[in-house]
Amino acid sequence: MSNRMWGGRFASGPAEIMEEINASIGFDKRLAPQDIRGSLAHVAMLGQAGILPAEDVAAIEAGLKSVRDEIEAGTFTFRRELEDIHMSVESRLTEIVGPAAGRLHTARSRNDQVATDMKLWVRDTLDSLDQQAAELQRALADKALRHAETVMPGFTHLQSAQPVTFGHHCLAYVEMLARDRGRFRDARARLNECPLGAAALAGTSFPIDRHATAAALGFDRPTANSLDSVADRDFALESLAAASICAVHLSRFAEELVVWTSAQFNFVRLSDGFTTGSSIMPQKRNPDAAELVRAKSGRIVGALTGLLIVMKGLPLAYSKDMQEDKEGTFDALQALSLCLAAMTGMVKDLEPNAEILARAAGSGYATATDLADWLVRELGLPFRQAHHVTGRLVGAASAKGVGLEELSLPEMQEAEPRITEAVYAVLGVGNSVASRTSYGGTAPDNVRQQAQGWIDRLA
Ligand code: ARG
Repeated sequence: MSNRMWGGRFASGPAEIMEEINASIGFDKRLAPQDIRGSLAHVAMLGQAGILPAEDVAAIEAGLKSVRDEIEAGTFTFRRELEDIHMSVESRLTEIVGPAAGRLHTARSRNDQVATDMKLWVRDTLDSLDQQAAELQRALADKALRHAETVMPGFTHLQSAQPVTFGHHCLAYVEMLARDRGRFRDARARLNECPLGAAALAGTSFPIDRHATAAALGFDRPTANSLDSVADRDFALESLAAASICAVHLSRFAEELVVWTSAQFNFVRLSDGFTTGSSIMPQKRNPDAAELVRAKSGRIVGALTGLLIVMKGLPLAYSKDMQEDKEGTFDALQALSLCLAAMTGMVKDLEPNAEILARAAGSGYATATDLADWLVRELGLPFRQAHHVTGRLVGAASAKGVGLEELSLPEMQEAEPRITEAVYAVLGVGNSVASRTSYGGTAPDNVRQQAQGWIDRLA
């Protein structure tokens, strides 16, 4: 049997394998709510514009609502031979309301329909990702406020560099997430033009009101060029790019959690709720959720790369290649949602081991820069010379196997005779972080102020 939606000129149905490669219903059934929303807006406009009689509009509207109810109730049967969600909905509508259903597709095409459905889905998803990212920011800002004074080693090259506070480290991720949210909002603002009414590619001869359907679906305006309307998947690409950057951010924090929860670092503790055991090694507490957040960045970046390659070189306007936009986009944005939720759970759950962090912050001559700065400030040495003197003192301490603060005053004075007792005040990690009061620096007062600022803004 030929296809009942488009089979007029076909004598027989598709080959089995043709049907299998062609069908998208297996994954685009997720667009059912958006598809019905779009059809309701379209048919209302057809009525208002006098293109369809009021009785047909009423019948189609009632029918679309029954289809929606069936899908929500799980009683709707999706059939592969109906290819995709658009034809599945229309076919069921025909069974419910009869021939009037055939008028719904006046002045539109599956090409503008699918672009509209996908935009609606991506828009809804960007909104909820934004909310989830805000939730993670709140959890981080709360931790930051509580640990504004908890010192830890700050790293460059994963070598102890200078002491920082745990709160400051949390706030770094709050800033990254703020940029991620900005990218979600930018993508949303740019996608918010309605393709519906572009029809197959050239527009339509019916006197449709594209401004009305755009407004009914919450778009800012209709798209301006019908070819571009059905050929554009920038909105999916841009959202995947924003999602990829966010996922990469989360993967960095996830990696830190993996390292920090190891027995060798033991910087933070995750409760039983966020760790798993090993089936053979009873001592293990594995940070699986953090590892999976780290790993899922792979499939998210993969979806972006995949769709870029699908779109590359496609001639205008619509090509069936574009049906491949769906699985990757659905999967990636859903994965990011899961990552944000898991990360929020871990941030709320984790407890820093303050004593271990403080000890680690003081080791590795992490206050050497403070000593050099003191030599500049108090003795007026040029920074390069101060760097050299400090280097000699670090060498002396390391040869004795002690910390800088454990060198005696005479030992210090061998490197620079004008050093006084006062130098010891800057060698403690607490003094070190408290002195970093420059804007954006790690001083506890700064951290408290910024954390509180974020908490207020996110409320
Ligand atoms: N399932 C198709 C897709 O997702 C819908 C559009 C089909 N358009 C067409 N001309 N065959 O891209």
